[in-house]
Amino acid sequence: MIKEEKILFVGGKGGVGKSTSAAAIALMLANLGEKTLLVSTDPAHNVGDIFHKTLKNDPIQVYPGLDALEIDPSIETSNYIKKVKENIRGVVKSHMQQEVYRQIDAASSAPGAEEASLFDRIVSIILDEGEAYDRIIFDTAPTGHTLRLLTLPELMSVWIDGMLERRKKRNDTYTQLLNDGEPVEDPVFQVLQQRKIRFLNVRKILLNKNKTGFIFILNPERLSIIETSKAVKTLADHDLHVSTLFINKILSQEVDGDFWKKRKQNEQDYLSWIEKEFAQQDKHYIPLFETDINSLELLKSFATFLNNHLKTT
Ligand SMILES: Nc1ncnc2c1ncn2[C@@H]1O[C@H](COP(=O)(O)OP(=O)(O)OP(=O)(O)O)[C@@H](O)[C@H]1O
Ligand SMILES: [Mg+2]
Repeated sequence: MIKEEKILFVGGKGGVGKSTSAAAIALMLANLGEKTLLVSTDPAHNVGDIFHKTLKNDPIQVYPGLDALEIDPSIETSNYIKKVKENIRGVVKSHMQQEVYRQIDAASSAPGAEEASLFDRIVSIILDEGEAYDRIIFDTAPTGHTLRLLTLPELMSVWIDGMLERRKKRNDTYTQLLNDGEPVEDPVFQVLQQRKIRFLNVRKILLNKNKTGFIFILNPERLSIIETSKAVKTLADHDLHVSTLFINKILSQEVDGDFWKKRKQNEQDYLSWIEKEFAQQDKHYIPLFETDINSLELLKSFATFLNNHLKTT
């Protein structure tokens, strides 16, 4: 785990340490000589802050061997709309074109448009842009959002199947009525077909345990455990298996005073619960650092801790 799969998704509840862990894993891999891309898919980006760099919609180098990017949903949505227009140009009769474009522009601000375009970019990173890298680490948004994204390939292909089916029926009718039985060329059918193939390819990669890993980050706290447990089950329902957990922000053994001793005991109870609840997963315990991990130096210590720890497991 972590040392093998090309693609890693880092997920978990808000504030548990997803971005920090994703950045530390990416740094560790870059230090091991793997050309790594760190991708933030969370609209509330904070990967740039960790490296003290302003990240863009396209990769920039943040460390030798490590590039990072933050997907910008507004840029992606306008690119997506441009692509949709290109796809239908030549398909729609010219006197209709203005009206169709107007409809598409209106759709770009509809609910779901940003999610669809974000998803398209992830597909493009996995299938095309990622070829230049040995490893791709996705830092994701808090749980619900990520789950929807990961289950989209399945939903989208079912949806496209429905459209293809209807399109085919219509074409068969045209073939009989208008074209003397000769099949009609249907560019819309072809565009849909191509999209379907891309989604199926991505889904195949997401389902392949040798290619894609899912890591969940959690803290030894009640809500974090409950939410992680639900998320692990939801993903399993879609055949996506979370094999690794980082239990982050573990208190040091050397705590002094009644207050901290009580906290440590409380933590111990949660750790026992985690052991039982997540018997199937590899579990890695990450200490709470003395301060926030807000500099490259501290991130390097996190990455070094991780590397030493993984060597022994
Ligand atoms: N092991 C740790 N020790 C000390 N501080 C930590 C540790 N892990 C994370 N932090 C700090 O906790 C805060 C939240 O971490 P981070 O931003 O990585 O969480 P996140 O899960 O990505 O949050 P969000 O859901 O908002 O994206 C940050 O200030 C980070 O520096
Ligand atoms: Mg984050």
